This record gives sequence, structure tokens and C-alpha cells, in this order.
Amino acid sequence: MRERVQKLISRAGLASRRTAERWIEEGRVQINGVTAQLGAQADPKTDHVVVNGKQLKPVTEKLTVLLNKPRGYVTTMKDPQGRKKVTDLITDIPQRLFPIGRLDYNTEGLLLLTNDGDLSQGLSHPRHHVEKIYLVKARGVLTAEMRKRLEQGVELDDGITAPAKVKNYRVTGSGCWFELSIHEGRNRQVRRMCEALDLTVVRLKRIRLAMLDLSGVPSGRYRVLTPDEIRLLRKSI
Ligand code: URA
Repeated sequence: MRERVQKLISRAGLASRRTAERWIEEGRVQINGVTAQLGAQADPKTDHVVVNGKQLKPVTEKLTVLLNKPRGYVTTMKDPQGRKKVTDLITDIPQRLFPIGRLDYNTEGLLLLTNDGDLSQGLSHPRHHVEKIYLVKARGVLTAEMRKRLEQGVELDDGITAPAKVKNYRVTGSGCWFELSIHEGRNRQVRRMCEALDLTVVRLKRIRLAMLDLSGVPSGRYRVLTPDEIRLLRKSI
């Protein structure tokens, strides 16, 4: 894919985009042997880009981050409505990271982003049964009958859900809180399961994925997963 050269340079971690633009203006960047002009584009796979005398190598280091997603962000890479994207929150990592799975615009919590396609596919595959735990705040109460339906499987328009687990149920003034553990990853699954029970979700937060939780990561912030965590994640798929 052709992209502006300053973008390729900054993604490779060599400089900020602004500095890369200055380098281009100063004639320190060549594409296929020709000095690049500002605005020039190149494809890192097929073009030979030289920066300050050295060949630009595409970033290949695999990296996975755990983001505590705030409400009001989309997990898609582009949004026709121009809403804020989770990737806007990843500010100091040159690699292009993609969300693993999705969280709704108004869902908060644990989201992994990676440039490791195998890990992404493995964690998203329903056959691999990766546990995800959601903290649900709902209006009204969760009756014993509703709880049983969640735990036995709820009929949705795309079929019955696998049994979920309900934990830490508590009632507050205006409604209730509980944790719902599922291992499927259907679109809007938790909200649809609750809707099927006539339970209105007012807040939804993913608090756990496999062995990972949000400890030490405030809303809107992220951290890079350690090699040990990646190893454990790979074991879970
Ligand atoms: N289930 C939902 O309904 N929404 C999410 O964002 C994640 C799981």
C-alpha cells in the first residue's frame, strides 16, 4: 500500500512526522534513487526508500498492548461519522496496531491491540473458548429466572448462546451490578443477551480477558504486554 513517506518514516520509529517532513525538504530522503519531494508516496514492500543514507526497513517487531477503552470510542480503524477511534489513544507506538475483536462505542474496558495476525486470529476464534468477563450495570433486578436463562443459554436471532456464568450479583439504589463471563464473541452479545431478558444495560465494561485484567491501567491508558503474558495468551488458544 502506498503511503506518504513521512508516515512510513515515523511508523518505523525514526522520527516524528514533522521531523520526517523536514528531512524530505532537506533532500535527505530518496525513493528508488530519486530525491523525494514533500507529499511523495511510497510502498514499503516494493519501493526502495533511503533515509539519511540508510534503507528504511518496514517494522516487523510484534507488539500487543492492553488498552482500558473509555466510552465514546469506536474500535474500527475508520469511522464514516468521524468519531474518536481507539487507535487515537495509542500515541507513542510506531507500529500500526489493530484491535483484537471489538467493543461497542459505549462499552468500556479491556481491549487488546496488536500487529500480530496469528495472535489476533487465535484469540478471536470461537473454537478457542477464551474467557471474557464483563461488568454489567442494569436497570431493575436480575431475577433468579433471568439468571438461569443466562446460565443455560439465551435464544438470540443468530442462535442460542453458550452457557454464561453470573458472579458477584449486587443490588444498588437504581438497579443492579453483576459480572457475566462468556467465551463467545458475537456482535453486541452481552447487550443482546440482556435485551432478550428485558434487562436494560446502562453500563458495560470488559474487566477480564483470559488471564489479563485492568490492574494498573486507568481509563484511556494502555501498557505493552510482556513476553510472559504473550506466551500465556498463546497457551490459552
Ligand atoms: N457485548 C456487548 O454487547 N458489547 C460489547 O462491546 C462487548 C460484548
